[in-house]
Amino acid sequence: MAEEPPGGFLTLSDLEEAASKNALEPAWAYVQGGAGEELTMKANREAFQRRTLRPRALVNVETLDLTSTLLGEKVSAPFYVSPTAYQGLLHADAELATARAASSAEILAIFSTISSRSLEDIARAAPKGPRWFQLYFQPEQATTQRLVERAEKAGYTAIVLTVDAPVFGNRDTTILGGFNVSSIPLGNGPDVFPPTHPTAIDQLYHNRSEASATWDTVDQLRTLAHLPILVKGILTSEDAQLALDHGAKGIIVSNHGGRQLDQAQASLDALPEIVETVGANAAVYLDGGIRRGSDILIALAMGAKAVGVGRPVLWALAAGGEAGVARLLSLLKEDLAIAMALTGRRTIAEVDRTLLGTPIQ
Ligand code: LAC
Repeated sequence: MAEEPPGGFLTLSDLEEAASKNALEPAWAYVQGGAGEELTMKANREAFQRRTLRPRALVNVETLDLTSTLLGEKVSAPFYVSPTAYQGLLHADAELATARAASSAEILAIFSTISSRSLEDIARAAPKGPRWFQLYFQPEQATTQRLVERAEKAGYTAIVLTVDAPVFGNRDTTILGGFNVSSIPLGNGPDVFPPTHPTAIDQLYHNRSEASATWDTVDQLRTLAHLPILVKGILTSEDAQLALDHGAKGIIVSNHGGRQLDQAQASLDALPEIVETVGANAAVYLDGGIRRGSDILIALAMGAKAVGVGRPVLWALAAGGEAGVARLLSLLKEDLAIAMALTGRRTIAEVDRTLLGTPIQ
């Protein structure tokens, strides 16, 4: 394991650097890579760098309250762990470490259909949660149904349906890095990859049945799920409205960390039209490029109710397992608290549009 800097990891970059030393090259290429020329992956970050804040002075900020509610789940801060696949590539404890760190920090975590550990083991590792289950439609409705039933039984409190992956994006970096998933164990077993598919790589890149999914498939899901459904991977107001029309309780504005359609709009740039169209009737969340407390404030000021953190959690996991993820979550909370104090916002409810300055052209 790479050596932790004296005093612990001080920044997200520290975690990233330690992770880059610990992770095997193909896994690292898979984590860090985006689709195509990675323009969207970079745009996610640049969209935040263009925004500015209007801080208010001489507000008493001795006491700050970061707590928030995500679809009824009380959490200690308005950010959550985004679903990411195959966490076992980065640490032996895989999703169990992430679940424990998030739960101890009272941060919501979303776990992927393609987890390294089973959804039941993840739930047992951190019984208090809060946790949601990310769903990929499976080739057979019966297997999708079984996954949903398993998640409900194991105490997950929402289904996060990913809709931006009818096929997987062309991941140049991942392919060039020699990534091959065929030998990576899958926690959720045959409910995820039916035995008819010979290798996981076929499933990932060639054989995905999601290509046939439509909004009707979402209706079918609604009839078999008792939990609220959030639709993840929305980048337009049209689709946000359709998601609501088809019963979604929440929208996650996301381009899958720039891993799907390269040259898709940055998540933050897609946020305003979606908030304008459905913000009054659904919870709108966002992921893609969150690295700082000020990023969280900007997304919230633009109308997101919370934001997801993806790659940094994987860096933290590779850097130090459960302790690494715990450190990441506390770094983000500290940075958010400092940004709130410096903008004169004592509570999350006080983060509103008046916080937004003129964007840098
Ligand atoms: C990915 C999929 C598995 O981005 O979500 O690699």
